[in-house]
Amino acid sequence: MIATEKLASVREQFPVTKRQLYLDSAHQTPLSLPVRDALYSFLTEGYEMAGPKPVWVRRVEETRANVARFFNASPSEIAFTKNTSEGLNIAANAVPLEAGDNVVLIEGDHPNNAYAWLNLKRKGVEVRFVPLKDNEIAAAKTFEPFIDERTKVVTLSHVTFHAGQVHDLASIGKLCKERGIYLVVDAMQSVGVIPVDVKALNISVLAAGTHKGLLVPQGLGILYVADGLDELRPAYIAMSSMLNPPADYIARAEDMAVRKDALRFEFGNINLPDLHALDAAIKLIESVGVSNIQKHVTALGDQLLSELDKLDVKVVGPRERGQRNHIYVLDLPVQKWADHFARNDVRVSPERGGIRISLAVFNTADDIKRLVDVIRTGLRETTAAAVAQVD
Ligand SMILES: Cc1ncc(COP(=O)(O)O)c(C=O)c1O
Repeated sequence: MIATEKLASVREQFPVTKRQLYLDSAHQTPLSLPVRDALYSFLTEGYEMAGPKPVWVRRVEETRANVARFFNASPSEIAFTKNTSEGLNIAANAVPLEAGDNVVLIEGDHPNNAYAWLNLKRKGVEVRFVPLKDNEIAAAKTFEPFIDERTKVVTLSHVTFHAGQVHDLASIGKLCKERGIYLVVDAMQSVGVIPVDVKALNISVLAAGTHKGLLVPQGLGILYVADGLDELRPAYIAMSSMLNPPADYIARAEDMAVRKDALRFEFGNINLPDLHALDAAIKLIESVGVSNIQKHVTALGDQLLSELDKLDVKVVGPRERGQRNHIYVLDLPVQKWADHFARNDVRVSPERGGIRISLAVFNTADDIKRLVDVIRTGLRETTAAAVAQVD
């Protein structure tokens, strides 16, 4: 858990908390003061000194090492990308797949993952969708009936954006390892709010953006590619991907060997401002600890569920601890309730199953109380309107 004083000081770092009830971190993080300051110093260095780029590049490597530690990976297994979609598309085009091979996904999972693999249908790759209810957790047994000797990839979100399920990556990773199947994980909704140990979970490739749990603006992604998967070849390359980049900057067809590490998937200049922001964000997150953040948001979730029960409001996702984390989708009609929350200065997201509440390191028990008060008022208004209609 997060000690009360620490929570108060972290909350101070997020000015949005003084302006509105922010329960929308699964959509986009509000920026913190350290992240703003890191961006500001980068901009100052840019306009005062136009760099110096070697210093910026050195910091990128420091950030890579910090990100690697975050996932229990080594820095050689981390590439920086633009976003989750880019990482997933890199994976889809890197895995050696032939016509007749198949890839197994969850029906209704994030479309950015689904499209990356559906795009391979034109090469004759079969995409198999596993049906799953919003309150169900995907585990090895969910995938097993859909897997055969031509299955090359299992891919899914760690945490779902639309119902908040935390899928059982441990059993899925074990199954994939036993069967020689690549496990490709979209960790956009889990990174920064759930510890993700890529080694313990047997993840082959992990892709995530950084604008939710990693607390920085959009435009920077992280790609983990396990060491040793040399058969994964980049579809795009640039000088930075090459094993022997030519010192004279002249590309020669005789030497097309790409790097062995994940940097073979990183091409061209990358998002330097966001990388500076990410370094500050990781320090902030690590000052609390990801497992403490997880415990904190889960406890707020307990409080929310017990208050919702009193109001007879259901959630569409799972209720059990361990199966949920920071995303709770309330089974309330979206149109009416989105307006109601907006009128009351509560930032939430409309989702396919209802209204999505998402919790972060800076949210508190008082935030939940305030949310519950706003829901109670909305329910009263609905009852009053229904009575007036009957009269
Ligand atoms: C599970 C999941 N994957 C991917 C994305 C977004 O993809 P990208 O980072 O490419 O914008 C989101 C939400 O924005 C998401 O919830």
